[in-house]
Amino acid sequence: MRRLRPDPIPLETQARILDAAVRAPNGGNTQRWHFVAVDDPQLIREFAQLFRQARAIEYEKFSAGAGPMVALAPGAPGADPTAHAETMRRMRCSGNYLADHFEEIPLLLFVFAIDDLGGANIYPAIWSALLAARAEGVGGVMTMVLRNFTDEVNELLGVPVEEGWEMSAMLALGYPRGKWGVAANRRPVHEVSSRNGWGKPFGVEVPQPLWPSQRNAK
Ligand SMILES: Cc1cc2nc3c(=O)[nH]c(=O)nc-3n(C[C@H](O)[C@H](O)[C@H](O)COP(=O)(O)O)c2cc1C
Repeated sequence: MRRLRPDPIPLETQARILDAAVRAPNGGNTQRWHFVAVDDPQLIREFAQLFRQARAIEYEKFSAGAGPMVALAPGAPGADPTAHAETMRRMRCSGNYLADHFEEIPLLLFVFAIDDLGGANIYPAIWSALLAARAEGVGGVMTMVLRNFTDEVNELLGVPVEEGWEMSAMLALGYPRGKWGVAANRRPVHEVSSRNGWGKPFGVEVPQPLWPSQRNAK
């Protein structure tokens, strides 16, 4: 959810979101994570400038055929470059909205970790936060583009980098302007899963998204 209303998120709601995050599994229960909530409008304006520059860098990489947004999974049917181009167009459009309205985001949540094991040690906490947010009616998106400007982020937030803290992600959070949806543009389960050996039929076809179930859909 990148189309967010500026309405503030109450502190009790923020507490529930972060309390979900800290319940996440993590290697050895070392809990080497720290969350910096940013709701100061001046700071948000400074991050807005950085965010827009960082996005431009990512899209330059993409245009040059580099970076994380280029390559689809190899070999599978359905990895259709035309469909991916359409996904990229929609994603860019939604990303543009976020970048253009960055100053309206009511809450940025910067997530720091010490040695996040390639993300493995922090993504459960991040995803728990986003799921808890959604349960509270708060939308959000996980972003990484600001990792193009880690020095500036560390400086603005006063991060004690000498202790080993590194920014893993920044979550933009707010009440949704858009409609809740299910991520529909995914290759279905049976195309990306096998049973008892790579490439053998998984055994069940899932032509339509099963989540959220109609029962729970808002
Ligand atoms: C590791 C990772 C990094 C991401 N970085 C960004 C980002 O910097 N900016 C952004 O708008 N979305 C970011 N996303 C969200 C993806 O762009 C999004 O999941 C994808 O476009 C598919 O959209 P959907 O999940 O709404 O279907 C990131 C997601 C992941 C898992």
